[in-house]
Amino acid sequence: MLDEAGVDLIVATGFEAGGHRPSFLAPAEDSLMGTFVLTQLVSDRVKAPVIAAGGIADGRGVRAALALGAQAVQIGTAFLACEESGTTAEHRAILFSDKAQQTTLTRSFTGRLARGVRNRWTEEMAPHLRELPPYPVQRWFMSQLRPAAVKAGRTDLAALWGGQVTPNLRHRTAPALMEALLREPATSEVLMSEAP
Ligand SMILES: Cc1cc2nc3c(=O)[nH]c(=O)nc-3n(C[C@H](O)[C@H](O)[C@H](O)COP(=O)(O)O)c2cc1C
Repeated sequence: MLDEAGVDLIVATGFEAGGHRPSFLAPAEDSLMGTFVLTQLVSDRVKAPVIAAGGIADGRGVRAALALGAQAVQIGTAFLACEESGTTAEHRAILFSDKAQQTTLTRSFTGRLARGVRNRWTEEMAPHLRELPPYPVQRWFMSQLRPAAVKAGRTDLAALWGGQVTPNLRHRTAPALMEALLREPATSEVLMSEAP
């Protein structure tokens, strides 16, 4: 359908990915798939270039995605953890803490399915997800709570977006992350050409 619609690029987003995920034909919950298999299935079936997204934070992730048929990758969480991202210092501190081992997919913050670090809000709202209004109504409700929660340093009530790769993050600034990504060879050809 995306090919027929004439899109220029297709982002294949695995369930590992942090933040929101796009869903056009069916509820996102009905098509949850890991980036590894999704990249292969999509790239085998479409003409448009595929961008793999979800769980990629270093050179080997880039290599894996390219090997599976992607033409490029999209990296979210690793940049979100950098100080230039505009997120709060409290959020970034949690991304580099043990708490980041527990992420969850939830509609509780905006009405759209998104992945973030588990906190009091995601856990206490989990039994009530069916009662929540859809996007963007839930987002509007939460936009009333979020500034107060952030101001009070209440990370238990604010969205802590982040993907499943979070425990592996190493870089705290965008230049350091970019340099590492460029230093770590992105293709097997580069690896082979560098071999003695
Ligand atoms: C804070 C945040 C917000 C995001 N919001 C959206 C969004 O609104 N729509 C969307 O398609 N993807 C959204 N994403 C997903 C990213 O575009 C990207 O595909 C994803 O972060 C890649 O996976 P990774 O986080 O494992 O690197 C968001 C990601 C983050 C971290």
